[in-house]
Amino acid sequence: MTLTIGSIDVNPGLALAPMAGITDHPFRLLAREQGCPLLYTEMISAKGLIYNPGRQKYLLCFTDEERQIGFQIFGSDPLIMAQAAQKLETLGADFIDLNFGCPTPKITRNGEGGALLCRSELASEIFKTITGAVACPVTVKLRKGWDEQNITVLDIAARAEEAGLKAVTVHGRTVQQGYKGRADWSIIRQVKENLSIPVIGNGDIDSSQSAKEMFRYCGCNGVMVGRAAQGNPWIFKEILAGLKNKPLPEKPSVKEIVEMVLKHLAMLSDLKGEAAAVREMRSHASWYIRELPGAAAARRKLVQTTSAKETEGILREFCHTLKHL
Ligand SMILES: Cc1cc2nc3c(=O)[nH]c(=O)nc-3n(C[C@H](O)[C@H](O)[C@H](O)COP(=O)(O)O)c2cc1C
Repeated sequence: MTLTIGSIDVNPGLALAPMAGITDHPFRLLAREQGCPLLYTEMISAKGLIYNPGRQKYLLCFTDEERQIGFQIFGSDPLIMAQAAQKLETLGADFIDLNFGCPTPKITRNGEGGALLCRSELASEIFKTITGAVACPVTVKLRKGWDEQNITVLDIAARAEEAGLKAVTVHGRTVQQGYKGRADWSIIRQVKENLSIPVIGNGDIDSSQSAKEMFRYCGCNGVMVGRAAQGNPWIFKEILAGLKNKPLPEKPSVKEIVEMVLKHLAMLSDLKGEAAAVREMRSHASWYIRELPGAAAARRKLVQTTSAKETEGILREFCHTLKHL
């Protein structure tokens, strides 16, 4: 189950998906603490990195503990993307991942992200220009296609391989689908059958069982977990145990969950300051506690908090109440 990206071996091939606004430096560290072998940054604008680097400062924060780490960029201009890739390589990226899947209209309207799935010649040019510009491995994260009438992933993935990219990730949904419906794992399997370079499968993995099933059904070299890791960095420990056919770890207790939220909050405060951390933690905290009884009421309080102390008070009270249920 080793995933090889150029000279990088990842064992087993298990990754935290890039997720804008979620998989920042603190969250990646928490995933790594739970054993996640491969991490990616959130998507970073290539143009922003070259013309307005100050605004990217938090996106670029990482430490050696996060290696091996892929820095993901989005853009549509091959030369600007190549310059951004060079900059990230200089900053210490282990590899560069290209975003060919973002469905956000703000991005696709500019011909970036998922829109590139409709532009095969430009895709080839981007791949060739970037592989020619950096020494580190380059990978791409694709969706199935723009919509069900335009399933282009097989062509784009073949172009990636031809241009010297070292792996592709396939999210089995179209751009038009966004995050709705089930991910189509058969397209991941088809891409794997058509390519010689490694394929990482993505879409709807939420347990060790589904991770194993994706490996088995798609024959892929790696699997990538997105939304199921939100508020649940423990999922990596569970999947690792499952892949090694070991007993699954116990689910975290309420106390462990609350301690994790507070640790996450403290790490975010160190990075971005208390006000931003408290704001960002509202959604993270809601995810962490989503399966616990009384979560809805706690969430209503959490979304109004303005200080770390207040957040901690709500969570400790929540924990205390649950203990007495
Ligand atoms: C909030 C959010 C932000 C995301 N941001 C990115 C991103 O920056 N780059 C990217 O390639 N995919 C991004 N994705 C897509 C995920 O990486 C992943 O492909 C998708 O969630 C499907 O996997 P899942 O079913 O395991 O969640 C994002 C998804 C979500 C939900």
